[in-house]
Amino acid sequence: MSNERPLREIAHECGFKVGAAVDSDLLRNDVSYRDALRYEFNALTPENALKMGPLRPIRGTYDFADADAIVNFGRKHGMTIRGHTLVWHNQTPAWFQAWDYTDEQLRRFLRDHIHTVVGRYRSKIDTWDVVNEAVSDDGTMRETVWYDAMGERYIDRAFEWANEISPETDLYYNDYGADAVNKKSDAVYELMERLLDRGVPIDGVGFQLHALGDRPNPESVGENFRRFQDLGLDVQITEMDVAFPADDPPENPLEKQAEYYGDIVRTCLAVDCNMLITWGVNDAGSWVREFKDFASRYTVDPLLFDDHSNRKPAYRAVRDALRRVK
Ligand code: XIL
Repeated sequence: MSNERPLREIAHECGFKVGAAVDSDLLRNDVSYRDALRYEFNALTPENALKMGPLRPIRGTYDFADADAIVNFGRKHGMTIRGHTLVWHNQTPAWFQAWDYTDEQLRRFLRDHIHTVVGRYRSKIDTWDVVNEAVSDDGTMRETVWYDAMGERYIDRAFEWANEISPETDLYYNDYGADAVNKKSDAVYELMERLLDRGVPIDGVGFQLHALGDRPNPESVGENFRRFQDLGLDVQITEMDVAFPADDPPENPLEKQAEYYGDIVRTCLAVDCNMLITWGVNDAGSWVREFKDFASRYTVDPLLFDDHSNRKPAYRAVRDALRRVK
């Protein structure tokens, strides 16, 4: 691995961050995973460790061990760190789901959560996904526990609470399926307009870009990113992976995958989106292998590194796209 220049060095030369979502067990136990992460990437996101469920398994306490391990590893190796995520409808603690709260109790609970977690990592986490996936696939506001208790203003409050405890941190809204210009990204765009009109302290939008089954058109992705930038927001790709339908893969899946990664990096560079995080370090650790029925629906090697953390054609496509801009 070490006789080629690391990707992070090439990325750094054009002001780009290339990152990966990190799992704390794999980081502890898999040497090739750890080495690839440290050597090749200059950004990371804890994949699960900072979500409310994993962080608060028992009522009244926080368990920061896994999150600390990942965040400290990233800091030690000079990586930019994205915190993921403060307010989401998934992966909340079991005890929380069973709790019979009033709307006011829920509001205070969320405020305390944000103050505690953002405050703890104030000097370590550069960017937070404050709110994740607040818009439904049909473009309406998703009816979550947060929405039920506080209406759309839960989003305003979440950003305000994060901002008051850590004004220097970049605060993002993050979503899937809104990568290209489409009905969902229109709805996210309108939500961003409303937040900005109300003076909500938001810095950017994270586009997940899980290209599972289909691949958003790169030109449309660029056009979409530009319109968000025109609102004064930054854009980042926060959870990218590329997989094909399991029952109908293309003839050369690894080449096709590489081509798409390359196209997306070129799109980023053209529109001044300077961060691309892949949702995992290597294929063996991809969520596609264990999440719901994904492994039967999609090809299961969606990332830049194979099961043993060897570089794939997709890796070389990302590297070559970055090299060309020097
Ligand atoms: C996924 C993780 O990768 C899985 O390990 C977990 O079981 C479920 O969540 N959108 C997001 C991420 O914002 O937090 C999700 O991560 C993938 C989809």
